[in-house]
Amino acid sequence: MGADQSHLPELENFRAGQSYISFFVNGKEYNVRLDGFDPEYSPKYVLVDFLREKIGLTGTKYMCREGGCGACTVLVKSHHPKTGQEVTRSANSCLLPLYACDGLNITTIEGLGNVKTGYHPIQDRLVKFAGTQCGFCSPGFVMNMLSYAQVNPNFTGGNVEYSLDGNICRCTGYRPIIDAFKSLSSTVSEQLSRKCQDIEECYKCPLLPLNTSETKDKSFEILTTSRNLYLRDSTSGEEWIKVTSFPAVFDILQSLSYVQKRYRLVAGNTGMGVFKVDGPYSTYIEITDIPELHEISMDATGMVLGGATTLTTAIDQFMVASKMDGYVYAPEFAKHFRRVASLTVRNAATLAGNLMLKHDHRELASDVFVLFESVGATVRIGSSPTLYQNYTLMEFLDLDMTGKIIMSIHLPTYAQSYVFRCFKIAKRYQNSYADVNAAFLFNIDKTNGFTVSTKPSICYGGVNPSFVHAKATEEHFIGKQMKDALPGALQTLTRETVPNLSPPLTSPEHRLGLAQSLLYKFVLGVIRQSVQPRLRTGADDVDRGLNIGTQTFDTDKSKWPLYQPIPKLESFPQVSGEAEFINDIQSKFNELFGVFVLSNVAKATISKIDTSHAMIFASKKVLYAGQAIGLIVAKNKQAAFQARDKVIVKYENIQKPLLDIKDAVKLQLDSKSNSNVEVDMGFPCRGISSELAKTIMKNMKGSSKSGQQQHRNANHNKVEGSLKTVKGEFITRGQYHFHMETQTCLCIPREDGMDVYSSTQSIDHVQAAIANCLNIPNNSINMSIRRLGGAFGAKISKASLIASACAVAAYVTNEPVRVVLDLETNMKMIGKRLPYLTKYEAQVDDTGKIHQLISDMYCDPGAIPNEPSSLFATVVLQSCYRAEQWDLTPHVAVTDTPPNTYCRSPGGAQGIAAAENMMEHIAFVVKKDPLEVRQANFIQKGDSLVGIPGAKLTTTNPLDGMVAELKKSSDYESRKELAESFNKANRWRKRGLSIVPQRFPLHYADFRLPTFISVYHADGTVSVSHAGIEMGQGINTKVVQVVAYTLNIPIDNVKIKPANNLVSPNSALTSASVTSELVCHSAQQACVKLLERMEPIREQLGNPSWRQLVAACNAKGILLTSQCQDLQGDIVAYDVWGATLAEVEVDVLTGDYRIIRVDIIEDAGNSLSPLIDVGQIEGAFVMGLGWLLTENLVYDEETGELLTNNTWEYKPMLPADIPEDFRITMLKNTPNPFGVLSSKATAEPPLNMSVSVMFAIRNAIDSARKDVGNLEWYRMDAPVSREDIRRLALTSLEQFEL
Ligand SMILES: Cc1cc2nc3c(=O)[nH]c(=O)nc-3n(C[C@H](O)[C@H](O)[C@H](O)COP(=O)(O)OP(=O)(O)OC[C@H]3O[C@@H](n4cnc5c(N)ncnc54)[C@H](O)[C@@H]3O)c2cc1C
Ligand code: FES
Ligand code: FES
Repeated sequence: MGADQSHLPELENFRAGQSYISFFVNGKEYNVRLDGFDPEYSPKYVLVDFLREKIGLTGTKYMCREGGCGACTVLVKSHHPKTGQEVTRSANSCLLPLYACDGLNITTIEGLGNVKTGYHPIQDRLVKFAGTQCGFCSPGFVMNMLSYAQVNPNFTGGNVEYSLDGNICRCTGYRPIIDAFKSLSSTVSEQLSRKCQDIEECYKCPLLPLNTSETKDKSFEILTTSRNLYLRDSTSGEEWIKVTSFPAVFDILQSLSYVQKRYRLVAGNTGMGVFKVDGPYSTYIEITDIPELHEISMDATGMVLGGATTLTTAIDQFMVASKMDGYVYAPEFAKHFRRVASLTVRNAATLAGNLMLKHDHRELASDVFVLFESVGATVRIGSSPTLYQNYTLMEFLDLDMTGKIIMSIHLPTYAQSYVFRCFKIAKRYQNSYADVNAAFLFNIDKTNGFTVSTKPSICYGGVNPSFVHAKATEEHFIGKQMKDALPGALQTLTRETVPNLSPPLTSPEHRLGLAQSLLYKFVLGVIRQSVQPRLRTGADDVDRGLNIGTQTFDTDKSKWPLYQPIPKLESFPQVSGEAEFINDIQSKFNELFGVFVLSNVAKATISKIDTSHAMIFASKKVLYAGQAIGLIVAKNKQAAFQARDKVIVKYENIQKPLLDIKDAVKLQLDSKSNSNVEVDMGFPCRGISSELAKTIMKNMKGSSKSGQQQHRNANHNKVEGSLKTVKGEFITRGQYHFHMETQTCLCIPREDGMDVYSSTQSIDHVQAAIANCLNIPNNSINMSIRRLGGAFGAKISKASLIASACAVAAYVTNEPVRVVLDLETNMKMIGKRLPYLTKYEAQVDDTGKIHQLISDMYCDPGAIPNEPSSLFATVVLQSCYRAEQWDLTPHVAVTDTPPNTYCRSPGGAQGIAAAENMMEHIAFVVKKDPLEVRQANFIQKGDSLVGIPGAKLTTTNPLDGMVAELKKSSDYESRKELAESFNKANRWRKRGLSIVPQRFPLHYADFRLPTFISVYHADGTVSVSHAGIEMGQGINTKVVQVVAYTLNIPIDNVKIKPANNLVSPNSALTSASVTSELVCHSAQQACVKLLERMEPIREQLGNPSWRQLVAACNAKGILLTSQCQDLQGDIVAYDVWGATLAEVEVDVLTGDYRIIRVDIIEDAGNSLSPLIDVGQIEGAFVMGLGWLLTENLVYDEETGELLTNNTWEYKPMLPADIPEDFRITMLKNTPNPFGVLSSKATAEPPLNMSVSVMFAIRNAIDSARKDVGNLEWYRMDAPVSREDIRRLALTSLEQFEL
């Protein structure tokens, strides 16, 4: 011990104290030694890792590890440090340090129901409402709902939607999850009750009582009072001190200041989810259980909230205060706080923690700070229990907080003459930091023309790191009537508001515009009754209504279990955490963990790498930021990440990367380089094999630029008559797949080679890639895949990269190696949906009918162009339109971004979006309703199909009928009229509608997907293994239905076993929507073969039961396995038809919007499994919405690094983003004569129809532009962010009239 440590009496006391923690998990007590016994434990070691890695409870998943996805949610009970009462809450176990678990009573998903004991009602409902697909998110949703229901037993449907703001589900589109939980609420609708009864009929399971996890463990009682702790990480020397009294914490802080140690106070620890690289710290001081920090008082003079008050508790207080005099701001505070982070984060996040994050990171647009500062809150800062001082929040920002604590926050009261309003405009409605937030507190004399009596408070966040008060604007208002003051105030505000440029933040122009709009909104709200009626709704927030949905489909009961609407068969294990994903496979002895080292620049040469501990892949050149340079392998995850952060890579010849498809196309056109000849495909897609692709290409173009021109001239007859030219460009950008299970692989060396568990959509590719890498025979690789936690195309080719690296590491070390990409690595390293730029020039007549079209589609496959998809895009671009005289050419335009890859509906989504954009443009030019133009161009039977020479549409186009039905069922005409009159009556609120039809060509390539069936003689049960990879699309359920139907046995008799390369060698990838059908087809054929073999015995036995038949066949030595892999030639390509109507409402002042209603009609043939197909339709549609609206990828212009690489910056849809009224209809009586068992595919086509929402937004924007007299065509690329909406609506200060 050093001499200076004599100054540390309190610390010494602690050091002598307890060094283990005790807590309960699912009623079982765990005493964990934290004195160096396990070197993995450190202050950064979190609960989710303990659960999964130390006690084998793998039901709790993780993905983001930053509080942004909810996969890791558990229920936590503790005792309130002040009142001693039991507190129940949901918690993100990825942000809960293990060291902070002392005294907690934790329930994980394993603590609820399971296959042996029966299931909890919440689990049961989620299953019965078909609320799971891949199931990776399901345990998190269940635990979140369970926690909420335990705290609020009388919860309402509205509460459900509010409480699911922190759980991401990429597969389902949320509607079935919301419905499932709402069906348990106190306000359950008649429709949902009826649904419950219907599904109870078809699917029963033993149920546990609703309050199952409330069973109190007696021993929990001993932990009612929290205790001091001293824990030390023996490897790093980091200390963890838990203090439970005010005097002690100040003593410790004082002691630490003597030795100048860098410490961090730990309250909710959620700050680590936002600013992950803060630190390093030598000491962590847990202050959560200091009673004084939880003190709350409230009276007529003000409210005092202890520093450790959580945001959830604060909301409760604001609700109480809302009913008291003086707290004019409280209702608005409560509403606004509900949009801070997510419920689960708010349960842990403290007020002081938030303010300190703002203190240390001025750039944070803290909602808490802006709101508190606007009402003149003060903070009490202490440096000892008795030595404290109150500061304004502005003073606090500049205070040196070393050795100090935020003890409490003081909120004043105000007279009724004060008016308060606050706003938050963000990339996504829920769980998103603010682009700009604002709060206004004005003392107004309403009797005197709304005169501003005293200096108002106008505060902003998100403008720039130092801008809080619009001081000059505040001054400007003093003594003026609001109406008179506004013009000058807006001018003043514009002068003093200087937003900074800081990607990926929205642009400075947008943030300035928002600052202006929000002030205007506030003023409109205050003097609402005295402004023109058409301006009044400008004052309002875009409030979302509660979600409702209907799903309509037909089912032929005579064929059940085929066509029967049943939930996914694995959904019970999914909702109970029993379903095993690759990373749940238990650790093997001596297992190592691998972490990739990525380049952080795009185009450069590596000059030096410190290679200790690393396996190096790229030794010289890097082509893109995010390229894997090496793999670190270490004894555990923590050590691997730490080692990665120590690798230093030096680069030279760094060049500025080309990142935008626009620039890549321009460069190509300027340099006259040839781009179209290189379009070739890495994988067959849209059923187009490489061979066929060559034919299509030949059919579409000449092989050079000049050849192409000649081809175009030769193919275009002169068009007669006076036609109009419609010429333009349209861009759709990339999309991260956002599968909840990141890319994962586990390789275990075995005596015959290696067992490989890879999260791949293609067993065959991974097997070949690994064998190739290791130069070992293919039969040395044993592959087995039970399920993936989502994939959406990202795991077709890219999984091989991860698997190969993992296998090399396992081979070299001869130990098992596990690689689970962290979200940031996954997002930076793996390519995404391909960006597209489409150029089009159409000759159209007055009806909008296209007489000629020349279009070039450029796709950006990224730095290594081996998966371009523009060929499919050109094929799909035709959609449902007549394409005589269409000349479409696919191109590639390469950027220096990570190599892109297929993403749900690759090329198809971009093709249809481009086609529909063109229809909008044509409609604009010919001044017609876009729907009329679409209909004028509908393809008819006998018309040519793009691409395949000589191919014609052989069926009747059903779209006229479908559109008519859609219009009728959705009440389109009257809603359109209503929207038009709404738009006339409202300057700042606009509604828009759009109907988009589609034809999606579904091709079967030479996809071989073997199925193997084994029947067991003892009881006649059946096991099936097939080559399709179950990743949420419900393939296993459909196969069971087909097998059970074909063999005429109950579905309970059939079980699906993992896919593997022993029974499914040389199999095709699972992709392009067709795998479910093809596997069902081969399963059916395998069953037919088996039945044929059994037939003589059946005849001998007369009418045997299945069990008797099987036993007899076995006795006769008849082979009771059956296998099939080949297409039998009786299924051929077909089209999927659909039509969608979307209606939206847009806030012209902010760009915020809501999707009022969406009606989808889809032709799914005879759906093999309607609940699954409805899920596919809803999920695909919502994924498409994310692509077109919120999921923006921003790269660093200098380095090419992806900046939107986490859940803080990248925003897939959440429950509040989906259509409020979501109606799905699968066409009745439309058996598919061409496909498998009369069915059609559903996985991709609905994603393409999400463009309807984008064009409904366009329709709304049109009205706003009309209001300012602008009738020009405008370009609207995707994604259309809130920033884009505001910009395109031409919202500007000059229009802010009153
Ligand atoms: C997914 C997610 C979304 C979020 N979204 C938003 C959002 O939309 N808007 C927004 O404003 N915020 C948002 N946040 C930030 C969130 O509000 C803060 O993380 C939280 O309030 C911090 O509180 P905590 O108790 O977890 O602090 P901790 O993480 O425990 O600590 C944070 C910092 O505060 C210090 N500290 C803690 N308590 C005290 C004290 N009493 N005295 C002095 N210092 C103290 C710590 O030393 C540390 O430096 C989000 C966070 C997450 C994880
Ligand atoms: S893993 Fe914990 S919230 Fe995402
Ligand atoms: S089911 Fe929700 S993420 Fe897959």
